[in-house]
Amino acid sequence: MAGPKVAVVGLGMGRGHARAAAENSKAELAALCDVDEGKLERYRTELECPKVYTDYKAMLDAEELDIISVSLPNYLHKPVTIDALRAGAHVICEKPMAMNTAEAEEMKQVAEETGKHLMINLSYRFTGAAKVLKRIVDAGTVGPVYFVRTGWNRARGIPKFGGWFAQKKLSGGGPLIDLGVHRIDLALMLMGDPKPVTISASTYDHIGTRLAKEQNKPFDVEDLATAFIRFDSGATMHVEASWALNTERAEEMFTYLYGTKAGLCHRNTGEGYDFEAYIFGEWGDTYVTSQIKDLPERENSMDHFIDVVADGVEPLVTAENGVNVMRILDGAYESARLGREIEV
Ligand SMILES: NC(=O)c1ccc[n+]([C@@H]2O[C@H](COP(=O)([O-])OP(=O)(O)OC[C@H]3O[C@@H](n4cnc5c(N)ncnc54)[C@H](O)[C@@H]3O)[C@@H](O)[C@H]2O)c1
Repeated sequence: MAGPKVAVVGLGMGRGHARAAAENSKAELAALCDVDEGKLERYRTELECPKVYTDYKAMLDAEELDIISVSLPNYLHKPVTIDALRAGAHVICEKPMAMNTAEAEEMKQVAEETGKHLMINLSYRFTGAAKVLKRIVDAGTVGPVYFVRTGWNRARGIPKFGGWFAQKKLSGGGPLIDLGVHRIDLALMLMGDPKPVTISASTYDHIGTRLAKEQNKPFDVEDLATAFIRFDSGATMHVEASWALNTERAEEMFTYLYGTKAGLCHRNTGEGYDFEAYIFGEWGDTYVTSQIKDLPERENSMDHFIDVVADGVEPLVTAENGVNVMRILDGAYESARLGREIEV
């Protein structure tokens, strides 16, 4: 039997998904879609893709597709995902799942109705460090995790400044929904998906607003968000996410998990997906800080999704995971807007 036919809509981040599908011997890259004809032509040739479209609806009408990657600006995630599911495809949708929880829940509902997989590309779950830390937590080595400190801070790094990322109506928000989504999701996975009870958050826009004014660019989102979340388990989480902050490192991603028996750390070593992992705690009479070596390679999320569709492998991220993190993001934005703690 021929493998799944894959299409990718949106050739920014989507280029990586398209390349993975083209190189995966189990699948077939059947179509590419982007409103930018220059990109379409370039990747049609480079990836030897037989069909290209500027209109995703025309693509859905013309092609029988098994997998569609929705790699579009955030405001398009919901409509395109729902149309793709209704056209009979399984969908891998980029993070954040949607603009808000209501949209994310609608997408999850349609996936359930159509019986199709909807995986959100919360891609840091696929790092070797995250997988090893999850095994350590699940083995009970750290005991119950009662405090998490996590964040993703950039000194100066507003993505594609001047484009859709910093316009709330197109993105849903700034670094919290763009970067914080990854760190909160990873923490939830490692903690075993506790339910959030209250959130207290603040957002700021001092540097982003100034830079936007100086460079005559649109900017109506936060440049820094901080949040404190209480969970039903009694655990708490502190989150930071910034695109512009007067801080030390150009790009810092970290998650510290503090358990009753040991602590863990997942943090980046440079840009991209290079991570290191540590375990801390008492070993006999000695307090030990130990780097976890020989981490496995990062798994490509498109390759994983092809295994989900072709071989029935359990998806590492579900629509429910996407909704859970959206609920925290919405709560944090609402708390920041009201200037007080809220219940979620
Ligand atoms: N998982 C990750 O680590 C990760 C990393 C980067 C971006 N992303 C996510 O990927 C998504 C896309 O981000 P990006 O950085 O690639 O943005 P981008 O702006 O670089 O690319 C989006 C592409 O979509 C195309 N497009 C826009 N409207 C379209 C439409 N109606 N039909 C077809 N094509 C259309 C644009 O021409 C562009 O090529 C966002 O949701 C972002 O959050 C995820």
